[in-house]
Amino acid sequence: MPTAERIDGKAKAAEIAESIRKDVAVLKNERGITPGLAVVIVGHDPASQVYVRNKKRTAESCGFHSVLHELDADTRQDEVLDLIAELNNDPAVHGILVQLPLPKHLDEQLVTQSIVPHKDVDGFHFENIGRLTAGDIDNAFVPCTPAGCMLMIEDQLGRDLSGLNAVIVGRSNIVGKPMAALLLAANATVTICHSRTKELPQVARHADILVAAVGRPEMIRGDWVKPGAVVIDVGINRIEVVTDGEKRHRLTGDVAYEEAANVAAAITPVPGGVGPMTIAMLMANTLKSASS
Ligand code: GUN
Repeated sequence: MPTAERIDGKAKAAEIAESIRKDVAVLKNERGITPGLAVVIVGHDPASQVYVRNKKRTAESCGFHSVLHELDADTRQDEVLDLIAELNNDPAVHGILVQLPLPKHLDEQLVTQSIVPHKDVDGFHFENIGRLTAGDIDNAFVPCTPAGCMLMIEDQLGRDLSGLNAVIVGRSNIVGKPMAALLLAANATVTICHSRTKELPQVARHADILVAAVGRPEMIRGDWVKPGAVVIDVGINRIEVVTDGEKRHRLTGDVAYEEAANVAAAITPVPGGVGPMTIAMLMANTLKSASS
């Protein structure tokens, strides 16, 4: 039997959604405001389509006005920018999310920076990144995945992480870098590792909080984990497995769960850990935008 507590992101996300539903009812009654979320997807990547449909479904279940714009893979850059300009000016829309990655012919940075900062519920606009990095977190939209990870870490360890070592494996703009800013703001001592880091297992073994966000299935083994650590697995990898001669697919994280769960104090599963929390944080950001 694994010794670690299994951190139930799905249950926590459901609690957050319930609380958002109540806040939305109050916002509608008292101020006549219905939070609006616009999600834009370009192309037909199956994983992205699953993610955006989940976002739309959760938005509707929270009582939001929710619109999904599905654009063809060959949509021109100016057409995407025109749609964002329209959404920027639409008073019924409080949050805009463009699902990444975008097809290669589109400039991801230009697109994410064209969203007005006060509707940037993904927290990818430089103004929001700047506020987060400068510690002005209450006035920033924090990227949803690290925000969700942080809530789960706080549940385990409290809000002050003074004296604790946090190691993040992965330096992406969506997860690794904003995660570092949040952990620093909570007084953790933070190390960011990546593909060029030397002696990664040794560095990881110093972590009281280990965040894995590399996108490599089960790369982080049990012997990389410090006994008693809190392990947050951001990876969602679809891998092929053969059972009874039949090929199937299953989702797995960046952490070898069974191994790590014998060493850690607490660990998030995949699926059912970080994924649902990401969506819950998107709803929280959209509500915050609509309320302000
Ligand atoms: N692709 C993977 N994660 C995310 C995310 O948090 N937001 C957006 N827009 N795209 C993503």
